[in-house]
Amino acid sequence: MVGDQPTNGRQVLRASSVFKSYGDTAALQGVTLEVRAGESLAVMGPSGCGKSTLLQTLAGITLPNAGEVTYAGQEGVQNLVLLDDETRAALRAREFGFVFQQGLLLDELNAAENVAVPLMVDRLSPSDAIARAGQLLAQVGLGGLDDRRIGQLSGGQAQRIAIARAIVSNASVVFADEPTGALDSHTAGDVLELLLASTVRQHRALVMVTHDESVARRCSRIARMSDGRVISDVRVTS
Ligand SMILES: Nc1ncnc2c1ncn2[C@@H]1O[C@H](COP(=O)(O)OP(=O)(O)OP(=O)(O)O)[C@@H](O)[C@H]1O
Ligand SMILES: [Mg+2]
Repeated sequence: MVGDQPTNGRQVLRASSVFKSYGDTAALQGVTLEVRAGESLAVMGPSGCGKSTLLQTLAGITLPNAGEVTYAGQEGVQNLVLLDDETRAALRAREFGFVFQQGLLLDELNAAENVAVPLMVDRLSPSDAIARAGQLLAQVGLGGLDDRRIGQLSGGQAQRIAIARAIVSNASVVFADEPTGALDSHTAGDVLELLLASTVRQHRALVMVTHDESVARRCSRIARMSDGRVISDVRVTS
């Protein structure tokens, strides 16, 4: 069980007193949270409480109105809030991976091309990127499906491709927003297992929004939110 593993890795991400509003809506109202290497953090709470906003803020996709988000990566410790858009986008492409409910895969590309996108962004040659993508597809149990269009895959297969894409460029943090939300419980279990195996067990950090208690209990920590605040943050001990 992942929950049994110690989560005393080095701190990779820290949100400090983060506030974010959209017009009159206060989505985050002073969130302080840290994420360590090798841990899996489930973020839970009712619809609209700010989970996706927190995930996107930790990932440097959304900028907070106040507060800091520090990330300890290849360039040392940086406050993502202070980086310009281009530098932040490059850091995201290089060091973060993303898996969302609908996968956000590109329908017009095949499986291997989708996985290869982050490598090409990272300036690997297309042929090297496709070759590396093929290895990753085999690793997530989809060997031989390299040429398959996304529309010709099952939901579970598409999520495996999203996971392969998230980890292909050696991301040190993988962000997942309801990655199993659209899957039946059996497929969801398989996808979750793959997500944990490809992140936590390789000393990456996983930050995952989920509505499913059984999914959250397989993570090493659960943070619960309400009205833009973290109201509890506990280790999973079972
Ligand atoms: N781009 C946006 N523009 C305006 N309001 C937004 C935007 N994104 C989020 N919000 C608002 O901020 C609040 C928090 O939204 P968020 O998406 O973080 O919630 P959530 O916890 O992820 O909900 P769910 O479980 O439904 O996905 C909500 O009231 C939402 O309506
Ligand atoms: Mg959400």
